[in-house]
Amino acid sequence: MSGATKKGAGAEGRGTPGGAGGAVRGAGATTVAAAAATLRQPTLETLGLGGALGIFRRGALPVDRDALVERVFGPKADRGSLVISGASGIVGAGKTMQLGSRLEPFGVRVVALDFPGAPDGIGRQWPGLAQAFGREGAARIMGNVVRLTYDGRRLPEELKALKPRFLLEAIPEVLEVKRAHYKLFRETFPGIEIRSVTSGFPSKELGVGIAHPAFPHEINKVWEVVEAGPSAATQLLWALGLIPIPVSDDWSFVLDVLFCGVTLAGLRVHRATNLPFWKADKLIRRLLGPNPFRAHDAIGAKGADFLTWSCLHHLSARYGELFTPTPELIERKDTGQPWYPPDHFRPLVDWSLTPAEHEGFRVRVMGPVFQMTSLMLHERRAHLSHLNAIGELCAQFRRGVLAVMRELGPKAVRETVEAYHRLHPAAAASAWHPDALERMDTPEWQQLYVNAEHDGEVGVVTLSRESWSWDVDREMNRALDWLLAGGIRRVIVSGDFHLSTQMVGADTADFFGALEKLEAGLAITNGWSRTARRLWSDFEVSVGFVGGKRCMGGMLETLMHCHFLVAVDDARLGWPEVTLPVVPGMEGCHWPFRRAPRDAWPRLLHLLLSGVPVHATEAVGWLVDSAAPMSDALKAAWGLATGAHGPPKRGLESGALLAVPADVAGLAPADGPGIEAGRAAIARCVAQSCAVPVADALALQARLAAEFLNSKACRDGRVGAEYARTTAV
Ligand SMILES: NC(=O)c1ccc[n+]([C@@H]2O[C@H](COP(=O)([O-])OP(=O)(O)OC[C@H]3O[C@@H](n4cnc5c(N)ncnc54)[C@H](O)[C@@H]3O)[C@@H](O)[C@H]2O)c1
Repeated sequence: MSGATKKGAGAEGRGTPGGAGGAVRGAGATTVAAAAATLRQPTLETLGLGGALGIFRRGALPVDRDALVERVFGPKADRGSLVISGASGIVGAGKTMQLGSRLEPFGVRVVALDFPGAPDGIGRQWPGLAQAFGREGAARIMGNVVRLTYDGRRLPEELKALKPRFLLEAIPEVLEVKRAHYKLFRETFPGIEIRSVTSGFPSKELGVGIAHPAFPHEINKVWEVVEAGPSAATQLLWALGLIPIPVSDDWSFVLDVLFCGVTLAGLRVHRATNLPFWKADKLIRRLLGPNPFRAHDAIGAKGADFLTWSCLHHLSARYGELFTPTPELIERKDTGQPWYPPDHFRPLVDWSLTPAEHEGFRVRVMGPVFQMTSLMLHERRAHLSHLNAIGELCAQFRRGVLAVMRELGPKAVRETVEAYHRLHPAAAASAWHPDALERMDTPEWQQLYVNAEHDGEVGVVTLSRESWSWDVDREMNRALDWLLAGGIRRVIVSGDFHLSTQMVGADTADFFGALEKLEAGLAITNGWSRTARRLWSDFEVSVGFVGGKRCMGGMLETLMHCHFLVAVDDARLGWPEVTLPVVPGMEGCHWPFRRAPRDAWPRLLHLLLSGVPVHATEAVGWLVDSAAPMSDALKAAWGLATGAHGPPKRGLESGALLAVPADVAGLAPADGPGIEAGRAAIARCVAQSCAVPVADALALQARLAAEFLNSKACRDGRVGAEYARTTAV
């Protein structure tokens, strides 16, 4: 892999520097030393927050939450409020909860504004809030929300006393209505900052910045952001644990091109072949992950159909037939009729498609999706990692659209679009940019999920995906190769402080093939384990860093191969595999035993057999080397990586381990045959792989884990059920 970019040296994907239209900016706030090199642009840099290397070097996160709250809402003594208009609606109510819960500790009041007769969307949020924060916490958060109504023409008098500093507009998707609303606010509060949650109107049409949130609104952390440069408000979203993603100022941004685009593909399949919506949904889920028709019903068919129609309607006006809504959508946005019949979720009759029909279906769905993606690439709508991640994080894609296209290669992608054009010739007339596929071998395409930076001495590898997959595995190897080729022998492996807020384990969708074929499982358990071992053997010093709230399963197996493991003190670590059940196949069954004192072995075995995680602070000395609050943990990781300070390295027993316990006290009774089978298989794998030298253990544990993936117990468990539901249709 070549093509490393020096910081500031024009990585692909950068938008118009400083222009409102550019999604990806080489923001000036990079604080990394001039000598630093990066495999591709860190996504954090698009928020004006530098890269991950800078975070470790400084031993501190790039911005301070209190300072940002002050910049956006004013000083403590004169703190202003956040107004959410349309707060009783789907988006408004969800965001009132998400932002209200995060801002309440800072004394920022949330004003929920709507019409008098609007249905009580906020009241409906109470059970969820109480479940997340307890009744007392939920009452405190709700108590901080001031609910006001008005007639839409004159703002309520009481609003002045609440000192509005920021308006998040979440009213209906009608351009003129939104514009009139901003005018009203600006007349009364001239200095107020405004962002719209619009699904599709560009900022240049609205005259305000965009903060477009993804569904479900009280939970999903992603916000597509359009603004002239990274603002304090956007950085505050990040500092509050949310995931702002800059996108360019083009109709429907990225998420709604993908989501509405895949819905339209399903609608067109229905028109062309008479396939019912539920069947199209099933097949799209198998192909790509989403079930768009069910998603519309889940969001609320009437509103969601209108929004999808609105996005497609405006996109087709700008880009032509590729986006034209079908008559079925036009009818449903008027009637609000759901896509699934009520109480009839499981059709009584089902049938299989022939291979030729499957291929026709694939072309009708993937053709337009690829073409729309070529348009977004052409327009540089987002950093490629962002463009890819939005599908996964917000539109149920199993793999991001760029990862799918990269695997196929430019030729096959082009052929799919051309085959689609033969079925739907009008789509070929505009918005097709095959040139945009030509750069697939550049780092921006090749490193969608894993980046690396270094300063000539220490490298930092960052993971932008919460679960390990074949894509991540290959990208990790390329990142490590790149560091080694640059002479880097000291490395920190971490989440990316942006897209991945935790590390959940292996992506079980990649196990589906292993349920059917032993070889597919062996490829995973051998291949992924070998990647993890590189962290032990290829570097002078390696440090795993857990900066989020959990590190589980395959992710923990990977990071435990580092010479040191550093975690923030509230992180939890564990191996929940037994609950699926699967057998940890990236050396979890022997490697941690070889690195822990003998008296910690029962605790390791308990982690594996119970699936119950441990707090990082309780695992120091046998699984974790240092656990501390964020800033101290960053400093600890840097101290270890540079060799400046830190605890001694725990060794690795390379011979056979004697007297590893076979069972452990305090285990709750297995609550089903699956867990029982999982426990037995894990205990067997621990016993056998600990009993041989480390040189032989990799292949042995790989075989045992793969055999279990290929067993009835696994097929009867959660992985098998997920496979049957999504793929074996
Ligand atoms: N529904 C989604 O999944 C989704 C996702 C992302 C973005 N959006 C965007 O969010 C916005 C709102 O969509 P929604 O689905 O929440 O709609 P909604 O109909 O559920 O809610 C809109 C709310 O705004 C209120 N309202 C109307 N005019 C108002 C005014 N002048 N002042 C104050 N309140 C007013 C309504 O009474 C209603 O409660 C749209 O711009 C939409 O594109 C929606």
